[in-house]
Amino acid sequence: MSFDRSVKIAPSILSADFANFGAEIRAIEDQGADWVHIDVMDGHFVPNLTFGPPAVKAFRPHVKTVMDVHLMIAPVDPYIDAYAEAGADVLTAHIEAGPHIHRTLQAIRGAGMKAGVALNPGTPAEAVAHLLDLTDLICVMTVNPGFGGQKFIDMTAKIRTLREMIGDRPVHIEIDGGVDPSTAPLVVEAGADVLVAGSAVFRGGSVDQPEVYGQNMMAIRDSLK
Ligand code: DX5
Ligand code: ZN
Repeated sequence: MSFDRSVKIAPSILSADFANFGAEIRAIEDQGADWVHIDVMDGHFVPNLTFGPPAVKAFRPHVKTVMDVHLMIAPVDPYIDAYAEAGADVLTAHIEAGPHIHRTLQAIRGAGMKAGVALNPGTPAEAVAHLLDLTDLICVMTVNPGFGGQKFIDMTAKIRTLREMIGDRPVHIEIDGGVDPSTAPLVVEAGADVLVAGSAVFRGGSVDQPEVYGQNMMAIRDSLK
């Protein structure tokens, strides 16, 4: 995975058909997804529950691009090796999920993955000031995590601050929550390069009508012109 700051679309399979993940992943990739975003929730750090390492491992053979795993769980550290074994390329932990994010990021890299750190809307950019050389991706949440389809919360000032703090380090800025053709231009202009989108990609489509996924992703790309 070489570093590339061009804009990437990472559909979140939280909005896919839960009985058909393999076909859904193949459909979004065929339609031009750059990464595949996987939302892991534990019913404790966030008030919703999705899937764990065995499911993520089962997704792996279907993902030809980048498997971007967003952990909304606490604690994180006991599960890092399981997600490495499941085949995550990027593993992102929330800074709010425990007292030792520095150690967590070291452990994620130590297990051979790219290390991401996610910030809830209430967490300031400055919280990552001492983590910039330990991280490969900063995920700026533009909703309170837990559910797809929520209203975008404007975090453009935070994104701008992070972009300045990052300088020329090879660190992605990922935006997660409420990204659609009306909000994507704001966050890209502020400095984001990875756009997670669940409802805005999957809405109206299905594995039998995958071209709708392609049109939805194209609408996001077109909004950036
Ligand atoms: C929210 C998840 C997001 C979510 C995005 O907790 O982390 O990845 O699926 O969904 P939309 O794009 O519908 O806001
Ligand atoms: Zn996510």
